[in-house]
Amino acid sequence: MRCSGALAGAAVAVAASALTVCAAPLSTSSGAALSDNLVDLIKQRLSESATDTWTSGTHMEALLELDYPDLSVFASASYPPSTLGSSPPSEVDSIVASWASKRSSWTKELAWDNGGAAADPAALGVGWLVAAAFVDESTQAAYQSYAEQEVNYLLNSVPRFSDGAISHRPPGEAASAWADFCSMVPPFLAYYGVATSDRSMVEQAYTQLKLYRSHLQSSTSGSWRHVVGGDSFTDAGLWNTGNGWAAHGIVRVLATMQNSEWNATFANEKADLASWATEILTSAFSHIKSDGLLPNYYDSASGSSFSDAAGSALLAAAAYRLAQLGGTRSAYLVDSAATIRSAVNRKISSSTGWVSPVVNPLSFKAQSAASPEGEVFVLLLEAAWRDSSALVALSS
Ligand SMILES: *[C@@H]1O[C@H](CO)[C@@H](O)[C@H](O)[C@H]1NC(C)=O
Repeated sequence: MRCSGALAGAAVAVAASALTVCAAPLSTSSGAALSDNLVDLIKQRLSESATDTWTSGTHMEALLELDYPDLSVFASASYPPSTLGSSPPSEVDSIVASWASKRSSWTKELAWDNGGAAADPAALGVGWLVAAAFVDESTQAAYQSYAEQEVNYLLNSVPRFSDGAISHRPPGEAASAWADFCSMVPPFLAYYGVATSDRSMVEQAYTQLKLYRSHLQSSTSGSWRHVVGGDSFTDAGLWNTGNGWAAHGIVRVLATMQNSEWNATFANEKADLASWATEILTSAFSHIKSDGLLPNYYDSASGSSFSDAAGSALLAAAAYRLAQLGGTRSAYLVDSAATIRSAVNRKISSSTGWVSPVVNPLSFKAQSAASPEGEVFVLLLEAAWRDSSALVALSS
């Protein structure tokens, strides 16, 4: 199947059946790349503001995807990662070195976050393991030991639900499932499995996503609730960013499986992951507003429907990645991602690099003029758009 005619702008001339097959990749080629100046500004905002564990971890993921794509699971999941065509990930190495130098010797986590979630420091894990492949031997041994301690902490110290779902919250608190967990823990467990040649860890990543879906999926749509369980804080609302964390975490695990040595043995799991991501994306994109962005919550009962560029960018990134992985051929999903990407990119200030409006990541129903998450998600979206467009160019 060739899509080149349509790519050249002759989509109308392509037969209907060809459109069905080519529809997803077709639309991904639309739009222009962000300018280097703007990407630099966004990176500058991030280096000043991405200080929380989960934001820093997601920042590293965005840098890997954007600047060292051969080292990202969307290209390959073998370990150590191949450096063919890629320079060493210096931007990621320096972030990991900074966290490692601050790490207290008594903690079992990659970073100690007083009062923070159990899941959040695990967001540093993939960047951590990639960095470990590029440092001297003694630093490497230390990094790998910290990663192993983090995995043991998640699997053996953090409370669980009775079905085995690992809590987002730390020991001492009742088990609580947050959609955010899906981007923090399963992608790390899966990549740790690749790094240690342990297939069961990749399977565990899948199992946790399956359990989280059973706790969080709404009874009336494919969207996920934000927080369930716990003894103090719950949020049954359908939070835009929470749905983004879930969908993007799912596609990262799918990519890890698909590009790993165990690809052929995970056929059923990959089909499930693709279908769970599709559920979330299909439901989310039914809420696109006239400005091309998604509302902060999808359910009116939550009373917070301002346009949120941050979660919108993360969901659009997940849709492009799902298309790139062959997990969807839905023109609706990729067209929606293109609509969102145009809207998000129009909302980035060319003088500051901040994207706005966004949710305040620490006060889920409040609007903010800027957030580090918003900046990270813009970069994830840019990398996802670029890589899925490149795929079209190759196949045309
Ligand atoms: C993974 O396996 C599928 C079949 O399940 C195959 O179509 C695909 O090419 C494989 N991908 C890689 C990267 O080996």
